[in-house]
Amino acid sequence: MRCTTLQLLLASFVACSSSGQAFTPVAARHGMVVSSEAHASRAGIEILQSGGNAVDAAVAVGFALAVTHPAAGNIGGGGFMLIRMNNGETAFIDYREEAPATASRDMYLDPHGQVIPQASIVGAKAVGIPGTAAGLALAEKRYGKLGLGRVMLPAIVLAEDGFPVSYSLSQSLREKERLLSKFPETRHIFLRDGNPYQPGEIFRQPDLARTLKLVAREGPDVFYKGSIAQAIADTMRDYGGLITTEDLAQYEVKVRQPLVGRFRGYTILTAPPPSSGGIALIEMLNVLEPLDLGVPNSFHSIHLMAETMRRAYADRAAYGGDADFVSVPVAGLTSRSYAAKLRDEILSSKPEAPVTAGRPHAFESGETTHYSVVDAEGNAVANTYTLNGAYGSGVTVEGAGFLLNDEMDDFTAKPGTPNMFGLIQGEANVIAPHKRPLSSMTPTIVLREPTTDAAGNLGPHWASPLRLVLGSPGGGTIISTVLQVLLNVLVFNMDVREAVTAPRFHHQWMPDKLFLEPWGFSADTQQKLREAGYKLEMRGLIGECQAIAVAPETGWRFGAADPRGDGEAVGY
Ligand code: DON
Repeated sequence: MRCTTLQLLLASFVACSSSGQAFTPVAARHGMVVSSEAHASRAGIEILQSGGNAVDAAVAVGFALAVTHPAAGNIGGGGFMLIRMNNGETAFIDYREEAPATASRDMYLDPHGQVIPQASIVGAKAVGIPGTAAGLALAEKRYGKLGLGRVMLPAIVLAEDGFPVSYSLSQSLREKERLLSKFPETRHIFLRDGNPYQPGEIFRQPDLARTLKLVAREGPDVFYKGSIAQAIADTMRDYGGLITTEDLAQYEVKVRQPLVGRFRGYTILTAPPPSSGGIALIEMLNVLEPLDLGVPNSFHSIHLMAETMRRAYADRAAYGGDADFVSVPVAGLTSRSYAAKLRDEILSSKPEAPVTAGRPHAFESGETTHYSVVDAEGNAVANTYTLNGAYGSGVTVEGAGFLLNDEMDDFTAKPGTPNMFGLIQGEANVIAPHKRPLSSMTPTIVLREPTTDAAGNLGPHWASPLRLVLGSPGGGTIISTVLQVLLNVLVFNMDVREAVTAPRFHHQWMPDKLFLEPWGFSADTQQKLREAGYKLEMRGLIGECQAIAVAPETGWRFGAADPRGDGEAVGY
């Protein structure tokens, strides 16, 4: 059945509760989708209401965001999907980009060994082999019920019929005009040949619709071994990129097991390498577990958390990499004895900077996007995927209508030199053929203990003791964002809306600064932090968390789209 965008919209308005900006979470009894763009959230709900499960909906949202949120939604990038089915089965679908076969350790250095500015960020040489089409298709095949053709339908309709451009999309396209103008195909599609879209105008993407239809009909092979692969390789050749048809043909999604941690009786399922996010999250939770964090965003709690972040991010820089290529001491970093050592150090020292590395340049703005889905049966998906920088490398595949990533910048271009997020990277993350770049993306699912009644019988939701599904964009700030939202719910007892809204801070070891959002931290707190030795820097908004909480007693789903973005929580 083919339905129009209007029908999709109507279906969701009739049966769903949704909210972009209300101050309470969106409540729903059955299913919930929270993503960074309203059409995509509604596409997910439409799939749930058509009998799909959380994975069907997640795949539908992933393809829909590739149409409606082109800065980060993608089929030319990569990401991670964390799945937890209600029978307890878990999977971490790693569809991260990979370095092409001819990539090499020093490919972004000039003859003097200096990093060539922008080389790993803009243009075809910055592109890693994309994984999204393969990753979403594999998730659908293994865990979905409706099939790729059905779950891609909303995205195809949105690309073909178009959708009204939001204020934030029109702003974002304008902000990135310089990048988008560099490549004629990109300028043609995303800037309408120099006549940028105004809010409310309809944005149609016929090339992308054709590409999506091919994938829906023929499966991901057409992207990796067929006509789309050829179009990618041709574009690479025309613009001096490295990816060949052989690179695409050998790309494989890796199905891994999530990292598992424990925190105050909760089970934390999160991202293993090649992400650094899960390791750092568990490391930080282990350090903080026995500490009294007091009042959220007080001097005391910020100090304890910032010192914990600083150490976890220093470890990230030293040890983070693709564990299929280098040995990453995951067990050591996430062990309780190591956490105890760090905790002792934090409690006995002052926040002075024992670091000597170089001065990282300013952060560039990036774009990644996270969405969370829970269905009526208690299956859950946390998916974070990205083109890396907003609109990726700026290169659009000729005739195929989609942007390619600049994920190669997540590798170490030169040890000790910061990447676009100001993150220092180490030897473990140097470039090698077919290696995956170190990521901070941290899709996470939190489970609670099953509830029992007085007689010890398991409560009604025992089979799906979900508590929280969350994740965020934000480069290096992803990990600290996930940490703070998680603590806001589990420790500070905020509802999920309060938890994603609360002001955030960030410390990533280097640069040795404590970044604060420009509102929400009192002058007194800031003064105390300064006196304690922190170098404070106000920065724009930190992260954009899309989260779902499941109420322990009733099983109701509560969704919250982060007010820092333009997302929407929709439930039914
Ligand atoms: O994988 C990573 O860690 C980065 N490529 C994520 C980029 C990102 O979050 C940009 N967003 N705002």
